[in-house]
Amino acid sequence: MDNRPIGFFDSGLGGLTTIPYLAEQLPEEKVVYFGDTARTPYGSKAVSTIRQFSMEIADFLRTHDVKMIVTACNTVSATCLDLLREKYPDIPIIGVIEPAAEAVARICSESNNIGIIGTKATISGGAYDAAIGRHKEGLSIYSEACPIFVPLIEEGILGNEITTLAIKYYLDRFIYSNHIDTLVLGCTHYPLIREEIDRLYPGLTIVDPSREVIGAIESVLRERDMLAKDSTFENTFYASDLSENFINMINTIFEESEFKVAFKNLEL
Ligand code: DGL
Repeated sequence: MDNRPIGFFDSGLGGLTTIPYLAEQLPEEKVVYFGDTARTPYGSKAVSTIRQFSMEIADFLRTHDVKMIVTACNTVSATCLDLLREKYPDIPIIGVIEPAAEAVARICSESNNIGIIGTKATISGGAYDAAIGRHKEGLSIYSEACPIFVPLIEEGILGNEITTLAIKYYLDRFIYSNHIDTLVLGCTHYPLIREEIDRLYPGLTIVDPSREVIGAIESVLRERDMLAKDSTFENTFYASDLSENFINMINTIFEESEFKVAFKNLEL
């Protein structure tokens, strides 16, 4: 048993989409979350910059004595996982891409057309193609970077005609010309526009890394006998800029749940 919290981080509020799944599947676990809202988005920045930011945040999470770090960000998972694992060999570091790739390999066959959407950094590095390929060969995989989605979501522009236009701008041609039947939401912000994607493209099988990562967290904690039990730690959410949307999002996500939240600015 290990009652220390799990550290989660993202460039902003996207990584929060993992937390309800954690609460559902591993309700005993507690969380320290860091959203780098002052420097979001990461996905259009240079890999060296994303690595620098990620190391700073991992250092900060370590000051909270976390038992594990979850990079609740596909962009960080695509570009920084090896580096972080090298720097902190003493704690498990889990990314979101590997568990989602496993899910794709489990549910898809050669007859499927798989679409991966994500940030520029995630898509250009080909991390999903490589991860899926490690589990199953011969699958048809198509990718599309959708760089405008994260700024819109961080701004709270959701469920209106601007969101619809942005989704159609990136996905209409991508989905129809490639006959996509399975779509991987390769950015943890995207579950926040999932309803709209479902509405515009009914019948797609959606793979959500924010959900898939919880199984990976559970197996590692179970294997190492590190699951929490009756922890009194209070779930804590930090942001480098306490934007109204970050606070609103936490309130929306935790509405009617037993999660308590505390806000605090972090001077990086
Ligand atoms: N949630 C991050 C991801 O999963 C968004 C990255 C960004 O800030 O562009 O990729």
